[in-house]
Amino acid sequence: MHGGKGFGGGEATRDPGPTYYDPNDPKGKQQAIHKAESFAEYLAKRGSAGSWSAVVSPRSRAVASPPAVDYAAVRKELKLMMDNPSWDDGSLAPIFIRLAWHSSGTFDKASGTGGSNGAGMRFSTEAADPENAGLNAARAFLEPVKKRFPAISYSDLWVLAAYVGLEHTGGPAIQFHPGRSDHQDENYWKEKGMSYGRLPAAEKYLGDEVDAEGRVVGWERLSNHVRHEVFYRMGFNDQEIVALLCGGHVYGRAHPKASGYAGPWVENPTVFSNEYAADMIEDEWFLVGHEDTWLDEQGAAELRPALGKRQYVNQKRGGQAGDHPNQMMLVSDMILAWDPGFRPHLEVYAQSEERLKEDFGKAFKKLTELGCGF
Ligand code: HEM
Repeated sequence: MHGGKGFGGGEATRDPGPTYYDPNDPKGKQQAIHKAESFAEYLAKRGSAGSWSAVVSPRSRAVASPPAVDYAAVRKELKLMMDNPSWDDGSLAPIFIRLAWHSSGTFDKASGTGGSNGAGMRFSTEAADPENAGLNAARAFLEPVKKRFPAISYSDLWVLAAYVGLEHTGGPAIQFHPGRSDHQDENYWKEKGMSYGRLPAAEKYLGDEVDAEGRVVGWERLSNHVRHEVFYRMGFNDQEIVALLCGGHVYGRAHPKASGYAGPWVENPTVFSNEYAADMIEDEWFLVGHEDTWLDEQGAAELRPALGKRQYVNQKRGGQAGDHPNQMMLVSDMILAWDPGFRPHLEVYAQSEERLKEDFGKAFKKLTELGCGF
């Protein structure tokens, strides 16, 4: 069973010092090209970090270009720190994936505001959004990497950390496009149309009752929130929403001290799979709250949410400890099974991990590039 160690910190594994390349040195340039994961990545690097060809001879008085970022070396460093036995289920991939999603998930198509460009969560206003609770740990884990590679923007680093985490755990390999730049202060809130509360909430607009089929009354309103107020606002369709949730919530766990929810969605929360989609359809799910202390007695204390929160679990009152590995679903997860617009896509992903991997990879790239201008 998982300890769920939570948000106490934990020392990231460090690797030997990275190699820096001097763009004025033709040998360094060659090495950088060679080290880049692909030529496209190398070209993208040129675009964002100051073109190599713009670098003039040392004698010239021209203003120097910003230092180039060795993205292959950043990737290497991120990969080395990804497995971390001191953290949760042993991997930083889940919290990095969530950081990238929450930095991107503020995008609003109509006004063009929000999105991963800017890394606004470094500042107190966005960091204090209740939906971002706990992500300070992810940002702190990445701080040493930023110190080693100061030329990479925070907004690029957060997205790259998620991509490396996905690839490292058997998820899709997403081509990284650098070029995001960081807000220098909180003035971005004054931009036309920027507003608070753009991230989804797991129990918004719900009533207290449960219907004859065990669904929380008002789930259609929650579905409307997720679909229209959040994902359509960013420019996604139903299939992409389902792909994003099935690929995202196969990772990691909820922490009572952060969101109030508790436990992992799947048995193996540090590897990519379609387990979330398959289990949502195949397993039986029961609504529980903080008062359900029988969970503790049945070996499922890690699934008991904080006071005032409700979630679905795969444990039944009166069952035997160890009947099932401890797993949960938020009410906002269950709408994928209940909503007739989402359900057909869920069924596809429950059948095919390959299809999920492909569609999730595409949707996650789109998500993390919203508003970036490329
Ligand atoms: C309706 C939309 C969504 C809602 C309401 C939601 C809600 C949540 C909540 C409440 C948590 C627990 C946070 C904690 O206690 O630490 C969480 C964790 C997580 N979410 Fe979501 N989420 C949504 C969509 C997504 C998407 C689209 C992705 C990625 C593509 C994603 C990736 C994750 C990951 C990886 C974690 C685990 C983090 C960790 O282990 O620290 N979520 N989500």
